[in-house]
Order: sequence, then structure tokens, then C-alpha cells
Amino acid sequence: MDVIGRCRKLATVSEEAGRLTRPFASAAMARANEVVGSWMEQAGMATRTDAAGNLVGHLPGAELDAGTLLLGSHLDTVRDAGAFDGALGVILAIACVERLRAREITLPFAVDVYGFADEEGLRYGTAYLGSRAVAGTFDAELFALADADGIHLRDALTAFGGDPVAIASAARPDAIGYLEAHMEQGPVLERAGRPVGVVTAIAGQTRAQLTFTGEAGHAGTVPMAARRDAACALAEFVLAVEEAGRARPGLVATVGRLTASPGAPNAVPGQATASLDVRHADDAVRVAAVAALLERASAIGGARDVAVRWEPRMDAPAVAMDPGLVDALAAAAGTAPRLPSGAGHDAVALAAAMPVGMLFVRCAGGASHTPAESVDPPDAGAALDVLFAAVCSLAVR
Ligand code: GLV
Ligand code: MN
Ligand code: MN
Repeated sequence: MDVIGRCRKLATVSEEAGRLTRPFASAAMARANEVVGSWMEQAGMATRTDAAGNLVGHLPGAELDAGTLLLGSHLDTVRDAGAFDGALGVILAIACVERLRAREITLPFAVDVYGFADEEGLRYGTAYLGSRAVAGTFDAELFALADADGIHLRDALTAFGGDPVAIASAARPDAIGYLEAHMEQGPVLERAGRPVGVVTAIAGQTRAQLTFTGEAGHAGTVPMAARRDAACALAEFVLAVEEAGRARPGLVATVGRLTASPGAPNAVPGQATASLDVRHADDAVRVAAVAALLERASAIGGARDVAVRWEPRMDAPAVAMDPGLVDALAAAAGTAPRLPSGAGHDAVALAAAMPVGMLFVRCAGGASHTPAESVDPPDAGAALDVLFAAVCSLAVR
């Protein structure tokens, strides 16, 4: 099966009937690890799942002390996802190993292909759980996070077969670098008429979870002037987030998940929650915007006598790609465009521990985080050629 065929097949492995949703440490992730693990084994790799639930395929190198080059991307998805975000990079990395074996090339360094356990943060609202463990930056406080059903991260990971106590064992001090191919998720390459591009940097990202608490009551009897409606406070905040995003060039600010409870048509909502995601290539702009939104949330709550709780979930600074890996990809990609990434990637977390480089692959209409995601087979072929050439070039440095 070719790379695109494998992505489409993997997209049928889901937690929800009729649409692709694979949260961290779910049964669907276990099945995805099985399916992708079998492809790794067919490519000649030994497989294992590490303490963070990451799937790892290992191809030995010729020299024991030459370290390990990491390749891959993530296997978790957003809700109602497309077939390529994450999966494409893992499957291209396996295809790269297949090609090394088919051409009987043994590199001096080992190659480990990762299918990371959590890049999207769908279940716990905080991204890069798998890649942070590999970078050795996994903060043990994260284990106390609870999902929407009240299941703590520590318990979810244990039930999945991971090992919270041994999370440090997932770190890779032997890594010499990380290369990731990923669909672009934007329109730049399509507009330029180019199949691939070399990533220069990844925008910084803040995530938080807000809870507005007012007072529930009867929709027919509580006078309007006496209400402490949590959903109305949340609605004001959502529009403030949009206004903030529109006010500064390059800033994007999103409330992607909202709840109101008790959730009855004839009850005044006593509690409402909102996720917040704020990004900008310049960290100072993002940090200032987040601080202003925190103030705004308090002001909205104060004016409505609604309590506001703000829980930080993630603060990832902008990350520059390693110049040496950018050069390796650029040399392999000819005159491919160079472009920054507005989306987050596992490379952000790994950059704390090793040089990272990324290759973008053209996608149709820039569509991503929707089932409309589409990548053409020749573009996946072009990406494989570049990834393979870049990996081989690292052997002769
Ligand atoms: C991941 O896709 C992200 O950028 O949120
Ligand atoms: Mn992704
Ligand atoms: Mn994504």
C-alpha cells in the first residue's frame, strides 16, 4: 500500500463511528499503534511503546556511538479530523526506512521512527505530551490533569500501558536530531505551485481553560436583572477573543470548545467553560495579548458577578528550526520555498533537547483539522524523495 493509501486506511481507526477522532491514550490509539507498528515491522524495524505511550520503531545503525536520528510525527488527532495531519509524517518516515532497506543502505546512526501519542491535546487540552516525554521536559504536574470524564492523565496513561513513574525513561539523550514531514495545513505551497517547502520556524502558542461560575436558576422565573448567567459571560469573552485576534496583525486567537451547564433549555446556565488558544510568531505579542485577555475575562466576570477561573494549559514559545537541518532539507528539496508554521508540531517540544527540522507537504485548499484534508500521491512521493535524501546527507557530514 502506498503512503496515501496507508493514511486513508489509518483514518478508519477512530474512537467515534463515522468520523476520525483519536484522543491520547484511547482504545483507538492502541489500535493505531498496532496498525502502524505492523507497518514498521514490515519495514524491518523492531517496535516498542515507550512510557508515554509513543510508538517507536527502531532501525540500527552501523556505529554504536553515532547516536539516533528521530523521524516521525503524531498519531493522535483532533475531533472529526482529516486523514493526514500527523499520520502523513509517520507513514512517510516508515517509507523512508523501507527505502533505506530496499537500497541496502546502512547509516552510521540508528533511525527511530516515532508515532507520538499526543500532539493535538484533544483529551487534556495541553499538547505535545508524547514529544515532551521524549525531550525530557514532561512536567509531573501534568499527571493530575483530568479529562472531560474526570479521568486523570496518570490513570489514562497507566491503563494504556504507559508508565507514569518511569516517564523519564522516554527521554532520548542519544538523539542527534529530529526530522518531521507534515502536511502544510495552509495554502502557501498550493499558491506557489510547489509540492514541498522547508519550515523555518513554528509560531508560539498559549492554551488555557476558563471556567465561569454564576448561578443556575429557572429560565421562567429568575428576573433578568437578578441573573448571574455564566454562558452570557462566556459569550462576551468569546467575542473579546475574536476582537483581540483581529486587532493585531499575525495574531490568531480561538475559543474552540465551549460548554454550558446544567445544559437545559429552560435553565439559566450556572457554569460555562471555554478553551483558549492564542498564537503569534513573536512571543512578546502573544504574551501581551494573553495578559490582556486574562484582564478582560476578570472584568467581564466582575461586571456580571460571575467568578472566573483561568487555568494555564500550555505556554510554548516560538521555535526556530536548526540551521543545519534546514540546509539539509533545502539542499535535498532544490529551490523549494521556505516558510514558517502557524500550526504547532512535535518539533516544538523536541527542540528543547535536540536540533529539529521540518518539511511541509502541499495540501488541497489549505484545509486541515477537517475531514476535507487531502494530499496528492505525487506530492507525498516528492516529500519522500526529499526526506530520504536529507536523511542520507546527514550520514556524510
Ligand atoms: C496542532 O495541530 C495545532 O497547531 O494545534
Ligand atoms: Mn499535526
Ligand atoms: Mn493538528
